Amino acid sequence: MATPIISINDLHAHVGQTVTLQAWLYDKTPKGKLIFLQARDGTGRCQCVMFKGDFDEATFEAAKALPQESSLTITGVVKADPRAPGVPGGFELGVKEIAIVQTSAEYPITPKEHGIEFLMDNRHLWIRSARQWALLRVRATVMRAIRSWLDGRGFLEMSTPILTPSAAEGTTNLFEVGYFDDKAYLAQTGQLYNEANIFAFGRVYCFGPTFRAEKSKTRRHLTEFWMVEPEIAFCDLDQLLEIEEQFVSHIVQTVLRENANELKTLDRDVSKLAHINPPFPRITYDDAVAKLIEMQASLRADTPVLRHDGKPLEGIEDPALLDITWGMDFGAPHETALTQLYAKPVFVTGFPTAIKAFYMEPYPGRPEVCKSADLLAPEGYGEIIGGSERISDPTRLEERIREHGLPMDPYRWYVDLRKYGSVPHSGFGLGVERTVTWICGTEHIREASPFPRLINRMYP
Ligand code: 4AD
Ligand code: MG
Repeated sequence: MATPIISINDLHAHVGQTVTLQAWLYDKTPKGKLIFLQARDGTGRCQCVMFKGDFDEATFEAAKALPQESSLTITGVVKADPRAPGVPGGFELGVKEIAIVQTSAEYPITPKEHGIEFLMDNRHLWIRSARQWALLRVRATVMRAIRSWLDGRGFLEMSTPILTPSAAEGTTNLFEVGYFDDKAYLAQTGQLYNEANIFAFGRVYCFGPTFRAEKSKTRRHLTEFWMVEPEIAFCDLDQLLEIEEQFVSHIVQTVLRENANELKTLDRDVSKLAHINPPFPRITYDDAVAKLIEMQASLRADTPVLRHDGKPLEGIEDPALLDITWGMDFGAPHETALTQLYAKPVFVTGFPTAIKAFYMEPYPGRPEVCKSADLLAPEGYGEIIGGSERISDPTRLEERIREHGLPMDPYRWYVDLRKYGSVPHSGFGLGVERTVTWICGTEHIREASPFPRLINRMYP
């Protein structure tokens, strides 16, 4: 009987059996009559032990000389050993046969420290490293959790165009592409199309790549990122926030349940995620500005500003970073400071209408603020969701399009939606890479995308 080919994350089900792994070598330690091979196969890492007496001289010596990243098939007996290293730990393979598929050329990524530019130039190889592997596995879980939550709640997935004729999230960061004799733009959002879709399907979402010509180099911005955008008919801002907090909690809890090994590899303090459950705190933009002004005054007076856990605020080297007056948008430092006041993600609602997109519904009686909400992730991570209630009245929408200096023609169809059975409706966009960066507790968004696109990087 041929031995079954299994993956490392299935070792637990084969203790005592002979199995075959198809793997790559990421490290090895010869010790006298033994060679400890660390193998990885995409699902995990496992220690495989070769005993000299079980092999002919040539095979044993060849194994001893194997370079990192050589591809192998290894057949052996699965042993449970709580001390065995690996991911998940606790299993070891007693090697009976080993076949070399390819002896790797000298691998450029060695255990020594490498600079970030070197690693990014070698992103096609770097993704094999333990941390990058863990991050991208979490990313896949996040994407799966997004779909499963929405699919399970009556949301229909709709594909929205990537080639679009107009701007929705501001004209400053549009990627222009030639479109025969005309121009087109890469989509900044699928929202406007989803607003059409809800009148046919009730609740929908689009999920795909999104493009922003972000001219700034920050640790939060990619030029191409993945965004999921649910849109819901007969839904006001309060109802939207309830959906958002359940959605985000589901994503976090799914990762905690399914990626314990990956989070351990990332050294993530999971106690900072375990309690992420509804409800999330809510604060208005007005109150947030007041808090920021207060925090800045305290920092200037050398009075410590305390986080939600009683420890001093981090990451604000200079109080001037918190400069703000009513009407200004938040920058990264504002979000960094605010989010440390809460153990959970926090909603900031009611931003000034003037700094938000043209489609957001102003508050009746106070049109200078709009029914918008950003969700800011804790520990200084900041915005992961932007959302709002949309303008439902056609005249008001036309006014706002004009005020924003946008041409009316490309938006005719969008205004039309408000003429044929308009209803209060709301939606939001969640950035996948921002969410992964937060959940994984990593520093820079570039590691949350397999092949990130940044202002200064398109290779590989
Ligand atoms: O706040 P934004 O711009 O909202 C929209 O695009 C709306 N049309 C969404 C909607 O209501 N349907 O972007 C939403 C989210 C942000 O909160 C952030 O997580 C992510 O998209 N995002 C980026 N992620 C990485 N790099 C960038 N340059 C990003 N810009 C936005
Ligand atoms: Mg936003």
